[in-house]
Amino acid sequence: MALISPTELTYKAPGTHEENRFEKLHNIVVPSAAKGSELIAQEIADLIRSKQSKNKKCVLGLATGSSPLSVYAELVRMHREEGLSFENVITFNLDEYWPMTKDNLQSYHHFMHENLFDHIDIKPENIHIPDGEVKSSQVRTFCQEYEAKIADVGGLDFQLLGIGRTGHIGFNEPGSNQNSRTRLVNLDHITREDAAEGFQGLEFVPKRAITMGIATVLSAKRVVLMAWGQKKSAVIQQAVEGAITSTLPSSFLQLHKNTTLVLDEEAAADLTRIKTPWLVQTCEWNDKLKYQAVVWLCRKTGKSVLKLTESDYNENALADLLETQSIYDLNIEIFNRLQHTITGWPGGKPDADDSHRPERARPKSKRVIIFSPHPDDDVISMGGTLDRLISQGHEVHVAYQTSGSIAVSNQEALKFIEVACDMMLGAESNTLRDLRNEIDQLKDGEIPSAEIRNLKTIIRQREAIAATRYLGLPDENVHFLKLPFYETGAVKKAPISQDDIDIMNHLIKSIRPHQIYAAGDLADPHGTHRLCIDALQQSLSQLRKEPFLKDCWVWLYRGAWHEYEPYQIDMAVPMSPAQVRRKRRAIFFHQTQKDGVMFQGNDPREFWVRAEDRNRETAAIYRDLGLSDYAAIEAFKRYYY
Ligand code: F6R
Repeated sequence: MALISPTELTYKAPGTHEENRFEKLHNIVVPSAAKGSELIAQEIADLIRSKQSKNKKCVLGLATGSSPLSVYAELVRMHREEGLSFENVITFNLDEYWPMTKDNLQSYHHFMHENLFDHIDIKPENIHIPDGEVKSSQVRTFCQEYEAKIADVGGLDFQLLGIGRTGHIGFNEPGSNQNSRTRLVNLDHITREDAAEGFQGLEFVPKRAITMGIATVLSAKRVVLMAWGQKKSAVIQQAVEGAITSTLPSSFLQLHKNTTLVLDEEAAADLTRIKTPWLVQTCEWNDKLKYQAVVWLCRKTGKSVLKLTESDYNENALADLLETQSIYDLNIEIFNRLQHTITGWPGGKPDADDSHRPERARPKSKRVIIFSPHPDDDVISMGGTLDRLISQGHEVHVAYQTSGSIAVSNQEALKFIEVACDMMLGAESNTLRDLRNEIDQLKDGEIPSAEIRNLKTIIRQREAIAATRYLGLPDENVHFLKLPFYETGAVKKAPISQDDIDIMNHLIKSIRPHQIYAAGDLADPHGTHRLCIDALQQSLSQLRKEPFLKDCWVWLYRGAWHEYEPYQIDMAVPMSPAQVRRKRRAIFFHQTQKDGVMFQGNDPREFWVRAEDRNRETAAIYRDLGLSDYAAIEAFKRYYY
């Protein structure tokens, strides 16, 4: 993979090299969002300092959303630890919901103060954020004045941008004009859906916003756009390689000659030079790339591996592959590689030759920890494999990393309180009465008391135990870690701390596993799944000297949202129709998570349907590649640490 590992972001004209000839926007790919954020913060700090040395003001255009969070955290760190001063800085934020009061926790006003302004020495009069409180009749004047203020201070020296799934920059949604300036706009439905989690429901997300225009952004002297995570990959590919069009407002950045995109590997994954590098350059082939290319060729031609012909390779820029190997050998090699990922023995097949199996045969009975970010990811993502591991005699432990309490609705919680009250035949306790009164009075979106959150935690614990019991797991092998980072009571989580890692360390040390399964779901870089895998990575790194870890293999599964690409799968565990039904029943025990649950994302299918569709699709991909035809397959990728 042609990943560049940059140390700085200096702008270079795009499309000048063989490998990026499809690209019309300069971009760099960084190993992680954290690394990218450091580079961006560094560029901003350098700009501030260079302006300071010339006694000049530094005018920054700033963004909100999840993407810039770590950039702001790094700037705050630089202020605290390296003395970076913001005294000469003037800021203009891109946008604000409208109508929106400044003290609303969802306002961008609140966001900017909480994440940046309250922690640095910027002068309050130098902060500009579109005013969500401005009256309807005054919006137009307000917007004109906002533009005038930017012009008065000499224009934006630097504009920081995120990108929405609609391709918006700021809140310039599809349809925005290249000449647009600061104005009131309607938000796209997809944008509102993406914001629904923060607002605790789509109906509470404002329909309008005030945003800088495309022309405002393009007038900045320098623009840096960051994108993290798989959910941005499609829109990034279009913005970088597609035509300039108002249906994808970020494509207008192609007109700006000092724009750099900073992408993590997931966000960059659909760029031609990364997804199919053989289409743009002569590749240095290694086993991984060869495998990726042949699997791609099968899907492109609609043929199974063993039916690929020389013309298929020649006509699809893969003739190189046949230079050192005969087509027969190559097809067989890839076929075998695919076949060797399939196993009905995810914990290893006892007493079998394991040289071509994904897992080791020994020890026969393994100690296994399945880390599940929420109580239900285990059965949704790997219920069939969990079932097999238990029935094949391994010592399986399931560890739920967070309580998942905020995803239990008040109505669900009330139902359980009322069952408890009914059982007490009128002799209900004060606690129950208080809980019922509180739930009755809770407004939508309000953070409930610790007692209610505890009740919701218990509900999810009981659902989880019912599911694991159904699959035959002893209750004592179920662990509820309640990692503290999650327990803010709100959608926004705290960062991972040593307290979280200590809990993980303790469990891993007490079980000394041979296998760990974890959700390697990187789709949402600031979501709970990402924090959960971060906690595991940090824990494994702290425990690396423990002798038992040498024998511990880590397998990643994907969360409910999407599956690994076929060439990324290292272990494919097939399921029969009966096993699919058992998995479905196990998921059903998580009743509070059924039917239009909060935080479902923009996919209206219920979790069990998504899981079944996904597992069926993976099986179909294997079948189409020429492997056996299974009802369903769960997929895993080995993680080397
Ligand atoms: C925020 C803004 C938006 C976001 C975009 C991405 O001020 O103007 O364009 O940058 O919606 O949001 P996240 O970063 O949350 O994915």
